[in-house]
Amino acid sequence: MTIRPATETDASALVALTGQLGYPVGDREFSQRLTRLLQRPDSSVWVAETIDGSVVGWIHAFVRPSLESESSTEIGGLIVSNTARRQGIGRLLVGRVFDWAEEQRTPIVTVRCNVVRGDGQAFYEALSFSPVKVQQVWRRSSRRSEPAARQSLP
Ligand SMILES: CC(C)(COP(=O)(O)OP(=O)(O)OC[C@H]1O[C@@H](n2cnc3c(N)ncnc32)[C@H](O)[C@@H]1OP(=O)(O)O)[C@@H](O)C(=O)NCCC(=O)NCCS
Repeated sequence: MTIRPATETDASALVALTGQLGYPVGDREFSQRLTRLLQRPDSSVWVAETIDGSVVGWIHAFVRPSLESESSTEIGGLIVSNTARRQGIGRLLVGRVFDWAEEQRTPIVTVRCNVVRGDGQAFYEALSFSPVKVQQVWRRSSRRSEPAARQSLP
């Protein structure tokens, strides 16, 4: 198994994995997002590739700047193919993020994990992450003119 930086040519493999997580997204839009992320110095994406060249996992990390506390490295997304789980691939991907966090001089690695994702919680616990708080996520459309009652968000 190789962990290597993602490139734009990985987009279709990553979009297929992302669909497994219940985030259906069009190929074109996903490609554009990936390209934008790959251009940012404060963000990185890596993939797990098998010896036969199949991409079976990805992880995205970025530096979250903060005024109130030290900047931290945050895991923005992590998916291992449901055909390749429990083989240590998630652990390898997170390990790569720890190396990057050191390069970025951020002493803390954070991940926000939806409470409905039991796999994720068991996984991060096994990797010695500790839950620090439970938050509620609020959102609304950024279009001020849109009446609140009619806002429909994905
Ligand atoms: C969470 C996820 C990334 C784990 O990837 P993985 O490659 O299967 O994880 P690993 O094989 O490296 O597991 C490392 C350890 O984590 C723990 N673990 C992983 N998945 C687990 C599960 N479903 N239940 C209980 N423990 C689990 C185990 O202790 C495991 O070690 P072991 O297999 O030697 O017992 C994968 O299940 C996944 O993609 N899930 C859907 C997406 C998701 O939840 N992402 C995380 C939220 S951001």
